[in-house]
Amino acid sequence: MIIITGATGQLGHQVIAALRQHLPANQLVASVRDTHKAAAQLNDGIEVRAGDFTRPRDLETAFAGASQVLIVSVDKVGNTATEMHHAAIRAARAAGAERILYTSHQGARLDSPFAAAHDHAVTEQFLAAGPAAYTALRHGFYAESALHMVGSGLRNGELRVPEDGPISWTARADLAAADAAILATPGRIDGISPPLTGREMYTMSDLVRLASEESGRDIRHVTVTDAEWLAATEASGVPKVYAEMLLGTFLAARRGDFAVVDPTLENLIGRPPRGMRDILGEFLRTAKATDIAE
Ligand SMILES: NC(=O)c1ccc[n+]([C@@H]2O[C@H](COP(=O)([O-])OP(=O)(O)OC[C@H]3O[C@@H](n4cnc5c(N)ncnc54)[C@H](OP(=O)(O)O)[C@@H]3O)[C@@H](O)[C@H]2O)c1
Repeated sequence: MIIITGATGQLGHQVIAALRQHLPANQLVASVRDTHKAAAQLNDGIEVRAGDFTRPRDLETAFAGASQVLIVSVDKVGNTATEMHHAAIRAARAAGAERILYTSHQGARLDSPFAAAHDHAVTEQFLAAGPAAYTALRHGFYAESALHMVGSGLRNGELRVPEDGPISWTARADLAAADAAILATPGRIDGISPPLTGREMYTMSDLVRLASEESGRDIRHVTVTDAEWLAATEASGVPKVYAEMLLGTFLAARRGDFAVVDPTLENLIGRPPRGMRDILGEFLRTAKATDIAE
């Protein structure tokens, strides 16, 4: 039995949908914080269990009978995140799971200036120290995150960002399909995975050029200092802690932490991953993108 946490989140529910291409519903369990939300989203006969990472006792029940547990990382940073991940890993071990899988990041490094990448590296170490077999799924940077940045460029006619570096932006749905393929064949990837990425890398300047071409609008790319960007981001209402974390992505990209493409994801999903032009083109055709552009 495979337990998937974060099943009501954007990645988790896509992993379940992709897993259903491989396995019947009775081999899957969704572990969620909010069972009512799950009941509304998952109407496929999949068992739903309550499993909040801040309630370790409940997790042992949520993970009971698991052969594999996919721990989807939480949307937090720092000790708050790592403590939750470690609690989930402990519970999966206590439940006797043969393999624990965790959604890490392609840039996971203890010395990363990107806080989430540091946290993922801490959790990878914790996983590696345990008795159960594990797979750390080193996900590429979500292409959907790049769309937020492009949206700001479309709104303002220019994208003002600090010095950056190439990033192999990767569609979340492709990552979900790759995770499902790995879960469906236990042990297919053991330990830390190769970076699970799309085929191409883009800098901010590349993204702006692509957005200009796809939208027919003239968007400029302007490199600003880190301090100027932090001040502007905080002034726009982003809390300091998040602004600093976002700045960390530029610092890590600048030193090349996300400058890698790897064929593993393509091999897992059996087709070329979606490219940024395709993802951006679809984004621009949606009503939401039109709103941003107006
Ligand atoms: N590779 C990348 O570039 C990238 C980018 C952004 C984020 N991420 C990471 O990937 C994760 C999944 O992405 P996503 O798009 O699916 O994010 P998401 O939609 O925010 O999903 C996060 C999931 O974590 C669950 N969660 C939060 N706190 C929890 C707790 N205390 N106990 C149990 N579950 C908890 C949430 O539960 P609810 O459904 O109840 O809210 C949600 O299902 C993110 O959380 C983040 O760690 C990666």
